[in-house]
Amino acid sequence: MQLLDSHLHRADIPDSMRHLIMYISRAAKYIHYHLQIGDLGAAGTQNASGEAQMALDVVADKITIDNLMHCRLVNCAASEEQEKEFVCPSCGGTKGEYSVAFDPLDGSSLIDANLAIGSIFGIYKGKGFVGKTGRDQAAALYIVYGPRTCLVYSAGKGVHEFHLNDVGEFTLVRENLTVAETAKVFAPGNLRCVNQNPKYKALMDDWMAKEYTLRYSGGMVPDINHIFMKGQGIFTYPPYPPKYPDGKLRLLFECAPFAYLMEQAGGAASNGSIDILDIKIKDIHQRTPIYIGSKKEVEKAVKGMM
Ligand code: F6P
Repeated sequence: MQLLDSHLHRADIPDSMRHLIMYISRAAKYIHYHLQIGDLGAAGTQNASGEAQMALDVVADKITIDNLMHCRLVNCAASEEQEKEFVCPSCGGTKGEYSVAFDPLDGSSLIDANLAIGSIFGIYKGKGFVGKTGRDQAAALYIVYGPRTCLVYSAGKGVHEFHLNDVGEFTLVRENLTVAETAKVFAPGNLRCVNQNPKYKALMDDWMAKEYTLRYSGGMVPDINHIFMKGQGIFTYPPYPPKYPDGKLRLLFECAPFAYLMEQAGGAASNGSIDILDIKIKDIHQRTPIYIGSKKEVEKAVKGMM
C-alpha cells in the first residue's frame, strides 16, 4: 500500500507542493464526510455567477478556504463560489509560494439525486492568475465523490490515481494513467445545442452512427474522470449563444486543471481554435468552450465545429 504523501515524496515533488497537495487532500476528506452527513438541500444563496448554491457548496468552499489558509503556502486563492480572488492573510500576501484556483464542489445540482460530484484544483507558482495561462500550472488535481472517493493528481510527472480508505488515507491505485489517441465513448455536454448548431448535430450523428458508447452524467468531474479511468473518450461543451456564447464551463476553475491533467496523460483539450492551456486568463470567472479527451477525437471534433 502506498499513501499519497509517500508517493509525492518518492516522485521528488518539492516539499512545499507536497504539503499543499496534502492540505488539499485533507479538505477533500472533510468534504467527503459532509457529503455523508450534511444537508443536501439549497443554501438559499447565490454564487459569484448568480447560480443557486446548495448548502454543501457553501460548506465545501469554507472547508477548502480554511485548509488553504492554514497551510501557509498559499499567497492567493480563487474559488468558483467567490466573486474575487483573495489573499491568504497567514502568508501576508507575499510569502506564499503558490496560488490556488478551485471549484470546491462541481456539479452540485446532482447532489440531491445522489449522483457523483467532485472538487477541482489548479495550482500556480507565484501570485494571482490574471495574465497567466493554464500552462503556468505547476500541478492540478481533482477529487470524485462517487461510490468511492477518488483523487487524481499530476505535478508534471504523470497522472496518478488514489482512493480514500476507511481510515482516511488516500492510497495509490494506479500510476501513470494514459488516454489513447482514439475513442469509442462520448460525453456530450449541452446536447440542446444540436437544435441551433448543425455542426454539433453532425458531430453527434457521426458518433452515434459509429456506435460510440454514451457515458454522460451531467457532472464534469465524473464525466472526465470516466475518460481517465477507461483510458479513452471525449467530453464536449460547445458555445451556446445567447445564454453561454463562450460555453458554460470556467477556464480557471474547471477547464484549465482538466486540460493540464489530460495533456499529462497524452490527451488533448481545445476551445475549438487553440489549446485550452494556451488561453490567456483575463478574468477569473471567464468561460470557454471545451473539447477534451483522446487526441485524434478532439482534433476531429474541433475540425467538425469549425
Ligand atoms: O459547471 C457545472 C456543471 O454542472 C458541470 O459539472 C457539467 O458538465 C455542466 O455544468 C452541465 O451543464 P448543463 O447544465 O448544461 O447540462
